[in-house]
Amino acid sequence: MNTRLHQDYGSWAVVTGASDGLGKEFANQLAASGFNLVLVARRIDVLQQIATDLMARHRIQIECIGADLGNDAGVASVISKTQGMSIGLLVASAGFGSAGPLLDLDIHSEKSMVDVNCRAVLELSYHYGKLFKQQHRGGIILLSSLLAFQGAANTANYAATKAYVQTLAEGLAIEMKPHGIDVLSVAPGPINTGFAKQANMKFSMALTPQTVVREALQSIGKKTTLRPGGLSKLLELGLKSVVFRSLRVRMMSQVMKGMIDHG
Ligand SMILES: NC(=O)c1ccc[n+]([C@@H]2O[C@H](COP(=O)([O-])OP(=O)(O)OC[C@H]3O[C@@H](n4cnc5c(N)ncnc54)[C@H](OP(=O)(O)O)[C@@H]3O)[C@@H](O)[C@H]2O)c1
Repeated sequence: MNTRLHQDYGSWAVVTGASDGLGKEFANQLAASGFNLVLVARRIDVLQQIATDLMARHRIQIECIGADLGNDAGVASVISKTQGMSIGLLVASAGFGSAGPLLDLDIHSEKSMVDVNCRAVLELSYHYGKLFKQQHRGGIILLSSLLAFQGAANTANYAATKAYVQTLAEGLAIEMKPHGIDVLSVAPGPINTGFAKQANMKFSMALTPQTVVREALQSIGKKTTLRPGGLSKLLELGLKSVVFRSLRVRMMSQVMKGMIDHG
């Protein structure tokens, strides 16, 4: 049991994308920490098998929700099915990518990527953020990427969705802090999950999901952006501009404060 996480966030976590990869590993490590879980993904049968395995190993409760986060109804069903539950932690891990020039890719799938990677993340952060504000505590973990910090050919739309997540998390971390809510953006490089195959990518020097999730759960509440692994940290150093990004974020947040019309 991770006492710090329980003290800070309570006993229930919602994990999206829990049928595979990072989401599944978040479920594993949170279950081992004694969290009760709401697992979300489209493949409900896979979620139920994961839930059965985890409940056999840990004394926790698990609810499974089969939902397509690429449409409003799917997101709404997650919100309605968790109504009244004392959720304290959101891990929004569901997401997917693609590789190749945009003009060679399927536009329907690229639009769906924006829905899953951005719109669903926005709505779930909004909904659980409001709940956490009422509860005066909570945690939100969003999955960004190394690609979030600059455009990248052959994965232009995916990189743009991750830039959205990264930017959202940086702003929310400041807005929500006074309400006792911690927001963490996890911005990894390649990880050994089903992601690469689905996205038609090939990875070398990939991290394990175990390492990334362990670092994320250690980092929430202590920093806003986590760049797991040596490659990410090295690139971060190489990409830093004259004014540190964190300083630019704070400056821009100050500018925005002055631009809000309270009228
Ligand atoms: N792996 C990497 O190298 C890497 C690097 C940086 C960032 N990330 C980010 O980390 C997150 C997790 O990726 P991963 O590596 O764990 O990928 P993964 O192994 O392919 O798992 C993706 C998860 O998202 C769920 N999902 C996909 N589309 C969905 C939809 N429309 N509705 C609901 N659930 C959906 C999948 O479940 P179902 O198929 O059952 O719906 C699955 O559980 C993503 O946001 C990704 O962008 C990954």
